[in-house]
Amino acid sequence: MSMKRYKVWDPLVRVFHWSLVLAFGANALLTDPESNLHEWIGYTVVALVALRILWGLVGSHYARFSSFLPSASGAMGQLSDLATGRRRVHLGHTPLGALMIYNLLLAMLAIGATGYMMTTNAYWGVEWVKELHEVLVTWAEISVVAHIAAVIWESLRTGVNLPRAMVSGVKTVPDGLNPEA
Ligand code: HEM
Ligand code: HEM
Repeated sequence: MSMKRYKVWDPLVRVFHWSLVLAFGANALLTDPESNLHEWIGYTVVALVALRILWGLVGSHYARFSSFLPSASGAMGQLSDLATGRRRVHLGHTPLGALMIYNLLLAMLAIGATGYMMTTNAYWGVEWVKELHEVLVTWAEISVVAHIAAVIWESLRTGVNLPRAMVSGVKTVPDGLNPEA
């Protein structure tokens, strides 16, 4: 089967993505939460997200928020594609993918904010802050599992290998499928 190739993810988006995976994964699974390392990696996550937000305003076409604004009608359209088995390929983020991205970015910032609060005199030892930090981490973990499942499902369904595109930057689309912006 022949394929068309579309360059979509610039290097910053790709390096951001896999750095975020490593940093979030390290803090969620590996670091001692009471260590300096935990705080440094946590602030690295916040810095990565801050950089990504800036890039969402001034970066390359598919990296910009304006190319994947939250859209109820877009999300409904994709849900109906899923329900009816319609193979529609989006070059940038899909509408449901976009909602997940905003969810993940906001969750990362909220985790960083509650983490920072625990280091301040005002909130040190305050139970609800610690609990909120943990609930947010659990929410982010559930979201990541859904994110990965969705990426795999959408890849199998459409024949476009999305994880590979997040590595190479290039989406390869089977001939006969006309991708939408
Ligand atoms: C801690 C785990 C993860 C987090 C926090 C995460 C977060 C994100 C974020 C924020 C984006 C948006 C990228 C951008 O535009 O800057 C994204 C996209 C994406 N992620 Fe992940 N991700 C995680 C794990 C993974 C894994 C393990 C895979 C591979 C199986 C994956 C595959 C993708 C793909 C393919 C996209 C682009 C989706 C599309 O084509 O629209 N992610 N992820
Ligand atoms: C993506 C970023 C982060 C992740 C995934 C994360 C994850 C976690 C997890 C899983 C725990 C353990 C909760 C438990 O005891 O069961 C925890 C606790 C904690 N985190 Fe984070 N965290 C992040 C960022 C931060 C940041 C930026 C700070 C501070 C600068 C921070 C400070 C703390 C503190 C003080 C605790 C409580 C330690 C204790 O008293 O038990 N975290 N975090």
